Amino acid sequence: MPEQISHRTPLSRETDVLTRGYDPKLSVGSARPAVFRSSTYVFSSPEAAEHAFDVMGGRAQADSRGVDLVYSRFNHPNAEIVEDHLVPLEPDAAAAAVFNSGMAAIMTAMLAVLKPGDTVIYTTPIYGATQVLISDFFGIFGVHSIAVDAGRGDDLDAAIRSARNLRIVLIESPANPNIVMTDIRRACETVSRLASGTAAQSTNGHGTTAERPLVMVDNTLMGPAFQHPLALGADVSLYSATKYLGGYSDIIGGVVLTKDAGLMKKIRGKRSLFGNILQPDECWILDTRLSTVELRMNQQSKNAKHIAEALNGHPKIGKVYYPTLFEDAGQRRIFDAQCDFPGGMFSIDLRGGKPAAFDFLRQLELARNAVSLGGVETLACHPRSTTHSAWKAADLDAAGIGEGLVRISVGIENWRDLLHDFERALEKPLA
Ligand SMILES: Cc1ncc(COP(=O)(O)O)c(C=O)c1O
Repeated sequence: MPEQISHRTPLSRETDVLTRGYDPKLSVGSARPAVFRSSTYVFSSPEAAEHAFDVMGGRAQADSRGVDLVYSRFNHPNAEIVEDHLVPLEPDAAAAAVFNSGMAAIMTAMLAVLKPGDTVIYTTPIYGATQVLISDFFGIFGVHSIAVDAGRGDDLDAAIRSARNLRIVLIESPANPNIVMTDIRRACETVSRLASGTAAQSTNGHGTTAERPLVMVDNTLMGPAFQHPLALGADVSLYSATKYLGGYSDIIGGVVLTKDAGLMKKIRGKRSLFGNILQPDECWILDTRLSTVELRMNQQSKNAKHIAEALNGHPKIGKVYYPTLFEDAGQRRIFDAQCDFPGGMFSIDLRGGKPAAFDFLRQLELARNAVSLGGVETLACHPRSTTHSAWKAADLDAAGIGEGLVRISVGIENWRDLLHDFERALEKPLA
């Protein structure tokens, strides 16, 4: 007999994230999970050990007997608990896996499906290390890469249609730091048409590969509160949990969520091999942050909207990059269709170039001059000389990452205090 369910179903995600998965009976009744700092687990019997290894090796399926834990490089209770709590945050997710950084999550998800001769298409600007991973590191192993400017739907469609042996389309939206949005649903539809339509006769490799291309989205900047890639048709949603999910700039972590449990099995298999699972203490910390991610992100988005809109038109600022200030109709349409709120990140282009940007950063008293984003405290940085300093000048100019650009990740402080801090920093004469 199935267990009688008396609560409203389906539960909304704010409830689900607090009530799903964790069973106090497994932690001597503690209301919050314990931290299981153990590298290895005692088997309930030799037969159970054999069964656990058979399941791991793909020689048996997990059944009603359950599967004993084995070794913490493969899996551990705190990873299972936080993964159970991550799934309801991402609409349409079937499974989650946690990693010891965002880069570990991105690398492992991609390596779970790539082979030499495959092609990866990615939008640019994309997080710098992701670009190096795809174009330099994967390139050594014979994976081709094609960069397409973020927000150019026609160019992305054309690249998807013409790439040979296309395996992954990786979208980062909005792009960082120019806040350009790429239409995720459109890219997913183009990939689906390619896979189901004339693929069998095509000369671009899809007819000969049994596996269709996957759309992966780095959802770090807008998710999980405001943008839902899996519901838009993507196969994989990726996170640097270091940012909004962790929320306090005190842990490094990463998350992969998939719609398909079979794909997640492959990704977990690679995680076991690479040994890049998130450690128990960090899993426990991340788990405590998940129930407030929507609250924090909503406040951060409200704050950012007030501040970005108030700074728009300031005589010392050439342009404010923020979704509610999009001038381009195509960008506005994507934002309206794809995002519930505009988010906590904006950039300002100071008319005085690099000296003005540096002076602004020096004068800030409340916001701090640091890279990273998504924490409860406001951070500001100069992308051209820091996060994007490896780029060529022409590429920076083409992407709108000018000498005067400052990127701001807004926290949960009072927005009027922050606006005052920014306006005061703008008023100071140049050093
Ligand atoms: C959009 C985005 N993706 C991925 C990463 C990499 O995350 P981590 O630093 O946790 O490895 C970052 C880091 O800044 C990022 O901003």
